[in-house]
Amino acid sequence: MTKPRIEKLAYIGGGSSYTPEFVDGFIQHENEVEVKEIALHDIDEDRLNIVGGMVERMIRYAELDTKVTLTLDRTEAIEGAQFVVSAIRVGGMEARIRDEKIPLKYDVIGQETTGPGGTLKAWRTIPVALDIARDLAKYAPDAWYLNFTNPSGIITEAIFKNTNLKVVGLCNNPINMQLGLATLLGVSTDEIFMEWVGLNHVNWIQRVYIQGNDVTTDLIAKLEDHPDMKWFDPDLVRALGVIPTYYLQYYYAHPKKLAEAKSAKKSRGEVVLEVEKALFEKYADPSELVKPPELNLRGGALYSEAALRLIFSLLFDRRDVQIVVTRNNGSIPDLPDDASVEIPCVVGAHGVTPLHMGPLPETIRALCQQAKAWESWTVEAGVTGDRDAALIAMLTNPLVPSYEVAKALLAEMLPANKDYLPQFYPLGV
Ligand code: G6P
Repeated sequence: MTKPRIEKLAYIGGGSSYTPEFVDGFIQHENEVEVKEIALHDIDEDRLNIVGGMVERMIRYAELDTKVTLTLDRTEAIEGAQFVVSAIRVGGMEARIRDEKIPLKYDVIGQETTGPGGTLKAWRTIPVALDIARDLAKYAPDAWYLNFTNPSGIITEAIFKNTNLKVVGLCNNPINMQLGLATLLGVSTDEIFMEWVGLNHVNWIQRVYIQGNDVTTDLIAKLEDHPDMKWFDPDLVRALGVIPTYYLQYYYAHPKKLAEAKSAKKSRGEVVLEVEKALFEKYADPSELVKPPELNLRGGALYSEAALRLIFSLLFDRRDVQIVVTRNNGSIPDLPDDASVEIPCVVGAHGVTPLHMGPLPETIRALCQQAKAWESWTVEAGVTGDRDAALIAMLTNPLVPSYEVAKALLAEMLPANKDYLPQFYPLGV
């Protein structure tokens, strides 16, 4: 029997240190699909060549017949692709470090997805994400636009609000959490169903079932003793009645996370720079033939597993349930229909259909709605460059305590990112 085939897959941000993680997914699943061509695009030629060389070696070592194309021309990468993955970091790690550091001066944690750092990262990214969308519309209108770029909920919302493309946002947190819970409960991941509700990086597990049995209460008790799950005070979790996931620390424990960030010698971006340096040394070494273990030091571990599951279900019409970022469409009635949410969806060749999750528990509703308001105002300001919208976006972020702080953050963070914000600085000044 001939293997199903993907003719072409484009990876925008191909010089990312995560690219080998993604490609490794296809190597691990080589029996299920054949990929004729992977086109890696980046604007940084050196990074593209180093990562591209590593990818080429991995593919040859695994004896796959995939052609690897490296290109600085984005349209060449996208033309005719069935899947276009976006994993970009506009402004590079330097911009992330700035996003992390400036807010600390105002006693706010920057955080590249949930804090003002996420706001600026979104504003730098939205013009590029929409530019990529224009290329898709022209050169690969039927392709799936798979957004891995953070903040994934905001970027995905910007794309589906402004284009007619087929777009899905993806994060590795749900799959990591599922694995963590399976290990904790001593079952296999397939046996678990998580009722995951909320937004990307602002989400809770409202119920957990194992083979149909609701184990949420037992699980909440077990989490209290688990060293890897001690992000939250057990009293908080019990009172919420749902399980908060990792990124909610920045909201529920802001003073603690702020104190940690302020006393840390390096910001997360600076730590990641070092990890990347070690990774790039390996990628440049011709004797390296497989994905290096150092990749697990990045938060994006297991991304490839989530990505491959998604791609396979879209391609093979599996119609299974996966937790992805998509348009709400009434699934959570407490949030706007046209807002992005991260929830369980049926994924098949038809696309992504959200399950009806129903109203949010009252214990989490207000925070989720506020975070959504921040995200949607961030989209609005990021698309239009409207300064009033930008102020409301900054002010509605759950970590920003006042108008004064919002104003000061904008006054410092917008000019610091001027080179990447054409919507706010149309004349370049
Ligand atoms: C997790 C999140 C990703 C995020 C990453 C950050 O995987 O789900 O959205 O990009 O962590 O990891 P880093 O190593 O860049 O801090």
